[in-house]
Amino acid sequence: MTVDIDKSAGFCAGVARAIALAERALAKGRVASIGPVIHNPAEVARLQQKGLVTVPQEEVESGDLKALRTRRVLIRSHGVSESLRARLAEAGLDVVDGTCPIVRHVQQLVKDYCARGYRVVVFGKREHPEVLGLVGHCPQGAVVVNSLEEADKIAPGPPTVLVAQTTAPEEHFHEVEAALRRRLPSLEVFNTTCRAVSRRQESIVAFAGARDVVVFVGGKESSNSRQLFTICQQSNKRSFWVESAEDVQAEWFSPGEAVGITGGASTPRWLLERVASHVAHVARTHGHEKHIKGGSAE
Ligand code: F3S
Repeated sequence: MTVDIDKSAGFCAGVARAIALAERALAKGRVASIGPVIHNPAEVARLQQKGLVTVPQEEVESGDLKALRTRRVLIRSHGVSESLRARLAEAGLDVVDGTCPIVRHVQQLVKDYCARGYRVVVFGKREHPEVLGLVGHCPQGAVVVNSLEEADKIAPGPPTVLVAQTTAPEEHFHEVEAALRRRLPSLEVFNTTCRAVSRRQESIVAFAGARDVVVFVGGKESSNSRQLFTICQQSNKRSFWVESAEDVQAEWFSPGEAVGITGGASTPRWLLERVASHVAHVARTHGHEKHIKGGSAE
């Protein structure tokens, strides 16, 4: 049996930046993250050991900033609303801004168009923190749509601009764009879906399709992981989603097979390597030949 790790798996640049900023801040002491810094329990646990505490975003948005219980505060890659950012600054907190620069750009776009009197339409998930942050850059409020049915309810009217949650599926964004253009000919559109997501989707199709079995590593709360796993499964029916090495089951594999290890944009490399190592251990225990490529599992 051979085991190899997908070279294109691991953190996207925005998440890698937020984690690096968190680690740098943690070297100085405790840090409170507004919402989980990443949708991966194993990585959150690793950072917790270094002094990271997670405060639910709703508590910080609605309540007072005492919930943070520390003066050093981390904004995760999804970003926050403009009003929360202002409150953190007013309170004189030491803000570590892990907002992904791509998300920051979309926030600025929303803010500018809103200031120019445009109706802002955001394609994405209403409750997603990034979408809440984007809407929170539009004092008049923005319209969130997540389906063609919802897009069809947008009446012709004021000048309108369409943007997307960066991790939204690009093909659905184009469907919504086409539906809106039919009724709003002067619609302005910014395809703000992140290229890192579409590139990752393309590479996972190729990787999964060329393996007998795929072990996909990702947090079950991560929407990016859910989306990537669905694509992975379409490319290879024998794909299994695990959160940790302990979830791996011996009956998934047979002697002589090529096993691929991959994961979502919030899955750390060290976790992929740990799972690869465990798969190799399972193979060894069951008498399968073992060879690992692309990682440090041996
Ligand atoms: Fe940023 Fe794209 Fe990652 S928007 S957080 S680099 S998926």
